[in-house]
Amino acid sequence: MKILGIETSCDETGASVVEDGAKLLSNVIASSVLLHQKYGGVVPEVAAREQTKVIIPVIQEALDEAKTRLEKIDALAVTVGPGLVGSLLVGVETAKTLALIFKKPVVPVNHLYGHLYANWITQDLRGRKKTEKKNLQSLYPIFFPAVALIVSGGHTDLILMRNHGQINWLGGTRDDAAGEAFDKVARLLGLSYPGGPAIEKVAKSVNPKAFDLPRPMIDEDNFDFSFSGLKTAIVQEVKKEMKRKKSLSQIFVSNLASSFQQTIVEILVRKTIRAAQTYKAKEVLLGGGVAANKLLRSQLTVYGSQLGIPVRCPPIELCIDNGAMIASAAFFSFKPLPPQKIQAEPGLHF
Ligand code: KG4
Ligand code: ZN
Repeated sequence: MKILGIETSCDETGASVVEDGAKLLSNVIASSVLLHQKYGGVVPEVAAREQTKVIIPVIQEALDEAKTRLEKIDALAVTVGPGLVGSLLVGVETAKTLALIFKKPVVPVNHLYGHLYANWITQDLRGRKKTEKKNLQSLYPIFFPAVALIVSGGHTDLILMRNHGQINWLGGTRDDAAGEAFDKVARLLGLSYPGGPAIEKVAKSVNPKAFDLPRPMIDEDNFDFSFSGLKTAIVQEVKKEMKRKKSLSQIFVSNLASSFQQTIVEILVRKTIRAAQTYKAKEVLLGGGVAANKLLRSQLTVYGSQLGIPVRCPPIELCIDNGAMIASAAFFSFKPLPPQKIQAEPGLHF
């Protein structure tokens, strides 16, 4: 079954054709990130306007890349939430219109479920490095129960997946999302938006122990997170340095960025591994924009393997928002609705 997945929950416009929930036939993503950079975050109105311009060309390119046409697609899948209302409306209304015109079923998908399903997608392995091939080939099948960590700009959630469509929310952040923390700390350090990749870049080859930062809630007996105390500690360090030196040196920024990255990764890994042990998980899945972080991927893999639990990390291009994960989620829980019943749901959760 070939599904066209459409994703427009934030600043990306993604369209992708996926066969049987796993085989990636195309994946096209247009991002308006450059337009938001000068504001240090996504400007919803700007994002939605861009999406209205690019949605049709992006869908067309995804169909062309998959060497298919809408007439030959079995179903459409679209992100209905959570996300920015204007952005969601662009994808939802486009999917509904195409479904009506081409008489195709359309499946509404929760964006957060989508991030989980990035782990099910296998790829055309041509042109990939040997080490990467080994990783990607082992992506499928995935055994249940699985514990999943979803870390993005808007969410930090720990999920127990007993089967497709059988999902329990174990806990989440009580304040900032992990990606939001990366973005805010990057801004404090004078780094560019989005903060995650910027912090990862400057944190390379410096001392991750230069600053001893707090690890809020790390040993509490629950699966919740809190990052605002960590962010406040960074504010204090920046203020102290400004008082002392009047500016932030490159090495100060790198050391603080690296200590922050180390700390947040430690918190995420500790809680995820504890959830995996508690629920006797056969797999640990990672998903969301922050899942692109190399330290998080490697630390989770190391601690998972110490317990004999395989850790799945989607390929980097499927960690950012994309239509492929939406198509895959729709395949494994195939519940189409009449187009007139499908609405954007900005506040949707698990
Ligand atoms: O999932 P996503 O593309 O959008 C949302 O649904 O929010 O996630 C975007 C977030 C941003 O906060 C960005 O800073 C973070 O993911 N991010 C990273 C990395 N790449 C993106 N955080 C840490 N390390 C990265 N390499
Ligand atoms: Zn996302």
